[in-house]
Amino acid sequence: MKGVILAGGLGTRLHPLTKVTNKHLLPVYDQPMIYYPLQTLCTAGIREVMLVTGGNSAGDFLRLLGNGADFGLRGIYYAYQQGEGGIADALRLCEHFADGHRIAVILGDNIFQRSIEPVVRRFAEQPSGARILLKEVEELQRFGVPVFDGERIVAVEEKPARPKSPFAVTGLYMYDERVFDFIRSLAPSARGELEIADVNNCYIRDGDLEYDVLEGWWSDAGTFESLFHAGELIAREKLRVRQQMDRQ
Ligand code: DAU
Repeated sequence: MKGVILAGGLGTRLHPLTKVTNKHLLPVYDQPMIYYPLQTLCTAGIREVMLVTGGNSAGDFLRLLGNGADFGLRGIYYAYQQGEGGIADALRLCEHFADGHRIAVILGDNIFQRSIEPVVRRFAEQPSGARILLKEVEELQRFGVPVFDGERIVAVEEKPARPKSPFAVTGLYMYDERVFDFIRSLAPSARGELEIADVNNCYIRDGDLEYDVLEGWWSDAGTFESLFHAGELIAREKLRVRQQMDRQ
C-alpha cells in the first residue's frame, strides 16, 4: 500500500508561529511535527510516500526529509498545493502517485501513540471501499463526527454544532482507487474547501465505509492548545518508554 501525508494549508490558526515557517515543521517536543505522521506510516510497513505541502518553507521539507532513506522509505515524492482548498483538494494531487493502488492517507498534524499496522492490515483484507479511524474525544465541534444508525455509520458531519456521537474522525483515512473519482464529484463547502468528510460520505452512500475505534491516545496539533498538549503527550510517552527500558 502507498502512503500519503497531507501537509498543505496555511496554518493560520497558529499565527504568528506559522507566518514564516510551515506548521508541519514546528517542533512537537523533540521532533519536527511532520516526523510523527511519517513514522506512523513507516511503522505500518508503508515504504512509498507522497508528501503534499503548501504555504511557506516548502523547500525545507526536502532538506529535512531528503529521499526518505533515514526513515526506511524506498522513496518520498513531493507535491505542492496552491492556496488552502481543503484536505480533499490536497489529496487530489496524489492521483498520479497512487496509480490505481490503495492508499493510506494521514494528516500532517496528526499524532498517534500506537502503531496503526492492525488497521492497515484490516483495510488490506477488506474487498473494497474505505476505512476510517474513530476516537472518543471532548471538543467534538473541532472535528468530523460520525452519525450512527446502530453500529453503522450513516454520515460524517464536519465540525457539527450538535455532535450526534462521542467520536471524532481522526486524520487517518484509507481509500481504494475510487477516491479520486469521488473528489472530482465534490463541490466546495460553505468555508470554500473540498472536505474530506464529503469524500467519506461518498463511500457511505455506496455502503462501502468501514471503521475501527482507535486504542491509545491521539492528538492533532493545529491549534495552540493541541500543539502544546501533543508535546506533553509525547514527552510523557518517551519518559514512560525510558523508564520501562531502565527496569528491564
Ligand atoms: O484532525 C482530524 C480532523 O482534521 C478531522 O476530524 C476533520 O474532519 C478534518 O476536516 C480535519 O479538521 P481540521 O480543522 O483540524 O483540519 P485542518 O484545516 O487543520 O487541516 C489538517 C491538516 O490537513 C493540515 O495539517 C494539513 C492538511 N491540509 C489542510 C487543508 C485545509 C492540507 O493539506 N490542505 C488544506 O488545504
